[in-house]
Amino acid sequence: MPQFSNPYAATSDQDLLSEAFARGEDARDPLSKLRAEFVIPTKGDLRNQRYGPAENATVSAGHVSRDDDHDESIYLCGNSLGLQPRRTREYVNRYLDTWASKGVFGHFKPLQGGLPPWLDLDDALKEQTATIVGALPSEVVVMETLTANLHLLMSSFYKPTSERYKIIIEGKAFPSDHYAAQSQLAHHGIPSSALITITPPSDDSPYLTTEHILSVISQHNATTALVLLPGIQFYSGQFFDIELITRHCHSLGIIVGWDLAHAVGNVPVKLHDWNVDFAAWCNYKYMNGGPGVIGGLFVHDNHGKVEKAQVDGDAEYNNDTQLHYRPRLSGWWGSDKSSRFRMENKFVPIPGASGFQLSNPSALDMTSVLASLDVFSMTSMEALRARSLRLTAYLEQRLLRYDNKTPPYKIITPANPAERGAQISVLLNPGLLDHVLHYIEEHGVVVDERKPDVLRVAPAPLYNSFWDVHRFIEIFQEGCRRAIVQKGKASAQTPNGVA
Ligand SMILES: Cc1ncc(COP(=O)(O)O)c(C=O)c1O
Repeated sequence: MPQFSNPYAATSDQDLLSEAFARGEDARDPLSKLRAEFVIPTKGDLRNQRYGPAENATVSAGHVSRDDDHDESIYLCGNSLGLQPRRTREYVNRYLDTWASKGVFGHFKPLQGGLPPWLDLDDALKEQTATIVGALPSEVVVMETLTANLHLLMSSFYKPTSERYKIIIEGKAFPSDHYAAQSQLAHHGIPSSALITITPPSDDSPYLTTEHILSVISQHNATTALVLLPGIQFYSGQFFDIELITRHCHSLGIIVGWDLAHAVGNVPVKLHDWNVDFAAWCNYKYMNGGPGVIGGLFVHDNHGKVEKAQVDGDAEYNNDTQLHYRPRLSGWWGSDKSSRFRMENKFVPIPGASGFQLSNPSALDMTSVLASLDVFSMTSMEALRARSLRLTAYLEQRLLRYDNKTPPYKIITPANPAERGAQISVLLNPGLLDHVLHYIEEHGVVVDERKPDVLRVAPAPLYNSFWDVHRFIEIFQEGCRRAIVQKGKASAQTPNGVA
């Protein structure tokens, strides 16, 4: 991985800690304008019990209004759920109007000023999705949801034999990935001991060196069928060397798949050039498609071919339809569009990733993802990454400077910007998290907690600003100071703490 240095490391405290500095950084970055594409909840919106934005609703009973109710909140939680693009409401309304006025014809009929007919929405999403993940349009498809897609992909790519049957994941894998891999083994009647985990040195130090990852894979190379890893680790924010690890797996004859939940729309990836076998992601984090919205997957062109059968009885491929293609769990939506409605019960997979589709996708979900992709189209992943590197570097430098003292927390995300995306995970000293979280939430900050002591802070480059980071730091560090005092008082009151 290349090493980048932090561009703010040499900036004086006087400059770096000032509001003017943050405002200046925002002013000189042309991408700052993209924030206006998003609905930023106000602090009042987050605090009250109503479901809608403040301007649309009456004040709920018992709500005590506060001076800062109309201030924008400090939303640094795009690693969990991205904010709503303004255009989403308009696109969804167009979808509703189409459904209301055209019924079933909404599937086929091109409409003036409307969105593409629902039947063509999948193609409309392909180009833009492919650009974001560095793929050919034929290699991606927007379908199903992340865990379901991982299962579908593993059903095609995990082909255990008596020699090669292990699955390697990381020890801190997101639970759904762990369960998915574990249940794939069980599904094939393989003991759970065949699940190999690459474990970090400790919870406090979750960093996995690339050497360690490669060595575990090498150690199990003769018996491993599949490696499944995250592009960016959800807890530590570590960005893995996808290209190198993929190359290493291939040199050992191992298939490798990537869970890009935290990487897609966050860091540039080149899935095609890096020869990734398969990948899957969700569209609700940095992609801003909406909670639980339809996900996406990638299948490398090498694996998506559909050809006339040439070799009868090839165990790897399914010949029973006279077509030669990678076996998969199939559904009608993966079958050739032109013959799909003939109901002939002859599966003719669409070449590429689209041939992995099962069901008629939710047009509502696709519409919402289209809105989000149209925002991404206003820039490029490279430009976003350049902004993200600066924004995250600024967050890091601000975190490191704490009252000229050692901070009551440590950063567990890699310090090398090439090994992280927009997220910085902060491990607080024991006993502080609840106090800090309470304080910052009261002050309109949204970040994500991982018990017992970790906060994940993610300045998403599409909508977060340097000013957001400045305001976050002011509130967070004050929260830390207060939490230390409260913790001190609490321990003084315990029997053992009484002097
Ligand atoms: C890394 C990772 N994998 C898998 C999942 C599960 O996603 P889904 O619920 O969309 O299947 C998540 C959800 O946040 C995730 O962060």
